[in-house]
Amino acid sequence: MGNLNLPFLGFEMENPWCVASAPPTATGQLMAAAFDAGWGSAIMKTVGPVEEPIINVAPRIQTMKKWNREIAMQNIELITDRRLSVWLDELKILRKRYPKKMIIGSIMAPGHEMDAWAKLVEEMNKVGVNAIELNLGCPHGMPERDMGAVCSQDPNIITNIVKTAKATSKVPILTKLTPNVTDIRMMANAAKKAGTDAITVINTVNGIIGVDIYKKQPHLSVNGYTAIGGISGNGIKPIGLKCVAECKQATGLPVSGCGGISSWSEGVEYLLMGASQLQVCTEVMIRGFKIIEGMNKGLEKYMAEMGISKASDLVGNIYERVTSFETLLKKSSSEKIAINEDTCTGCNICVVACDDAGYDALKLKTVADTQRTHGTRKVAELIYENCTGCNLCVAVCPVPNCMSLYDSKEPFPYELHESYAGNTLD
Ligand SMILES: Cc1cc2nc3c(=O)[nH]c(=O)nc-3n(C[C@H](O)[C@H](O)[C@H](O)COP(=O)(O)O)c2cc1C
Repeated sequence: MGNLNLPFLGFEMENPWCVASAPPTATGQLMAAAFDAGWGSAIMKTVGPVEEPIINVAPRIQTMKKWNREIAMQNIELITDRRLSVWLDELKILRKRYPKKMIIGSIMAPGHEMDAWAKLVEEMNKVGVNAIELNLGCPHGMPERDMGAVCSQDPNIITNIVKTAKATSKVPILTKLTPNVTDIRMMANAAKKAGTDAITVINTVNGIIGVDIYKKQPHLSVNGYTAIGGISGNGIKPIGLKCVAECKQATGLPVSGCGGISSWSEGVEYLLMGASQLQVCTEVMIRGFKIIEGMNKGLEKYMAEMGISKASDLVGNIYERVTSFETLLKKSSSEKIAINEDTCTGCNICVVACDDAGYDALKLKTVADTQRTHGTRKVAELIYENCTGCNLCVAVCPVPNCMSLYDSKEPFPYELHESYAGNTLD
């Protein structure tokens, strides 16, 4: 059995999985339930200054589904509406009860009130958390109060907050950034220069989850009105991975990866990209703490298959291979499509895609069917000279091991075929 332990900020986590700061960590009792279920670490729901009352609206959560499966969620929930003193009592109890679990505090204060930040860090210092996450990323409700995402959209504010936290904290500081910026590398760098120990990416992505076309109102509707909310869940994974890559490239600091992880394999993607901890929120909100069992089993099985004995060996450097388009042009080869006629079902999906959005390089042909009595069946056929290796057909093919790319060893760049290169509107 592989060793799932992972060192992170001087703490040996018993596995890489961490419940992100959100409703599943809204109380000490919930955090205890997460630890009992097997999560290696958990981050409390963000707490703010005592004098900032938190009043939530209802409703505040809506999902976007495809084939009855949630692919994204919008929330307009604020930070914790529980008192700091209650939290401090609970964190003390958790510390005693779970010495082997990584307990992370999460705090937020206005971007221009350094005393409030320092006070919150001091309070966290007293209750034995292993690290403190600075929530500079909440995109709704809090920015209007000089908190949340407005703090990580300005490098100067990041600098002030991180410096203040570092000057006060006895434990490592994670700076949690918003993805809602033009260039997250600038923000990560500001956090690094100010001394942060690690970066968490990402908090939620600004968005509106949908419109109810019959009621003619936003899907997440507070009596007909909505606010730009935070989108989370599986659909934001590409944005999370991109931010991990950029933050690693810009700073080299340890990164806690978060955003759209819904399975063990997506966690592995984050590890290989360079993350050292895996935060999960939406998937826990939908399916509960017990998903950790499948996450651990899947990870262990993958490690065994790949001959990897320690999860820490999975923390990779794929971020170094995220490069410029110019470099890709130099690395590119002349790819063509190989079609496995044994597995091809002749469903025509690739042909339609290639006809209407590709290079007109696929058609169906009839072949002898040795398995069935009626003698023939349809399969996809490549029109070799038309194919430019764009990969659309591979990406849309619903059959495993049917279509694949291979290096044709022909010169690159490829020649556009005649009917594509000329005027197509004769
Ligand atoms: C309802 C809800 C409430 C959240 N509250 C917080 C919060 O209090 N503090 C925080 O740092 N992030 C909060 N988040 C953001 C999550 O921690 C996480 O960054 C985000 O949901 C992306 O991860 P996911 O795709 O696994 O959900 C919240 C997310 C949701 C859905």
